[in-house]
Amino acid sequence: MNLKYLGHSAFEITTGNSKILIDPFLVQCPDYDYSGTNDIFLTHGHSDHLGKAPQIAIKTGALITAVFELAKYCSRYGINVNGISVGGWLTYSWGRVIALPAFHSSSADDGTYTGCPVGYLFEIEGKRIFHAGDTCLNSEMKVLKEVYKPDVAILPIGGHFTMDVENAVIAADWIGAKTVIPMHYNTFPQINADTELFKSEIKKQGKTPVVLGIEEQITL
Ligand code: NI
Ligand code: MN
Repeated sequence: MNLKYLGHSAFEITTGNSKILIDPFLVQCPDYDYSGTNDIFLTHGHSDHLGKAPQIAIKTGALITAVFELAKYCSRYGINVNGISVGGWLTYSWGRVIALPAFHSSSADDGTYTGCPVGYLFEIEGKRIFHAGDTCLNSEMKVLKEVYKPDVAILPIGGHFTMDVENAVIAADWIGAKTVIPMHYNTFPQINADTELFKSEIKKQGKTPVVLGIEEQITL
């Protein structure tokens, strides 16, 4: 499987013949080729996460998985949606996913309430990837280490709206994943972050920080 960074909190996972997008806000890679997308996961309704999801779903027929209220909001575009909530494992042809709590807010640009914000834990090809969404540091992250044991943690580090570097480093310790990837930084002036500090602090924990460039990918 390949995990590719599309800027901000947007990622692409490819596994077998499947292509999965998370929070496809694509301002940092406007020419990204989303053709062939099978599934889109949305962490919450803010425009920097909803991004191009409806347009991509219209063009590709991709299924959008999102918390019930956000899925309902997306269904106004006449696209395929899977309304979920924090709860049990969800099964897909390529693996399974569980939505987990994020501490944030969630609404669409027009003010529509779009349910609770979430993060997602993906289990694909025997590996577990946790995408935290927009969140502050919270003790639920200790449950991740104890119960879900992710191999990869993707964490916001930009501060202001989410965890900053200092708290993301604590989160990495609590979550326990060996590979830690930063997101949600340097897109806007308010969320500028020091990736060198992030890298050195993560290394002190004996973990591997992976700071991806736009459209750069790693193989897991
Ligand atoms: Ni947000
Ligand atoms: Mn955000």
